[in-house]
Amino acid sequence: MSKITVRPAESADLVAVAAIYADAVHTSVATFDIEEPPPTYWQAKLDSTAVGDHFLVACDENTVLGFAYSGVFRSRPAYGRTRETSIYLAPAASGSGLGTRLYGALLDLLRKDQVHLVVSVVAQPNPASNALHRKLGFTEVGTLDEVGFKFGKYVSTTWFQLRQT
Ligand SMILES: CC(C)(COP(=O)(O)OP(=O)(O)OC[C@H]1O[C@@H](n2cnc3c(N)ncnc32)[C@H](O)[C@@H]1OP(=O)(O)O)[C@@H](O)C(=O)NCCC(=O)NCCS
Repeated sequence: MSKITVRPAESADLVAVAAIYADAVHTSVATFDIEEPPPTYWQAKLDSTAVGDHFLVACDENTVLGFAYSGVFRSRPAYGRTRETSIYLAPAASGSGLGTRLYGALLDLLRKDQVHLVVSVVAQPNPASNALHRKLGFTEVGTLDEVGFKFGKYVSTTWFQLRQT
């Protein structure tokens, strides 16, 4: 773990980021995407300069092991002090504390930005993500029952929130 760095994402990371996400798109209900988003989707996250928008990667030397980002929760202006967060690790990088480190770094940035509320939506079942959010101080708001449909099954989402200011 000591060689692993957490830093802002760069253009050169985006192919690896897209590959980690593509694995989730095709194998998991963690994301409700059913097709891989185009490269412009990731570039737009990288290019955002809005306060509270961040895009971090965790790297072992030159290998991207995972990424986490924050962005707009909803576009209407009154939601401006809230951010929605997300995190994805390569399967081999999960389960050894990296999620805590990477997501913790993202939340530190959001605190510095004085983001008031952080929201995260976790498709179920996802015991690792549930545990990660609770560990980092999120509280469970509630569950939307069978709000999604992927791989031939209905999927529920649990909403987590973290008040930061
Ligand atoms: C969710 C995810 C980011 C967690 O990262 P991680 O590196 O595995 O998490 P950590 O090792 O930092 O563990 C965080 C906490 O969760 C717990 N945890 C990890 N995996 C768990 C599991 N399968 N079941 C229950 N608890 C688990 C850990 O024990 C730890 O708590 P502790 O420190 O109190 O013991 C990672 O598993 C992942 O990328 N999953 C696939 C994508 C995904 O689901 N993203 C979330 C979308 S909402």
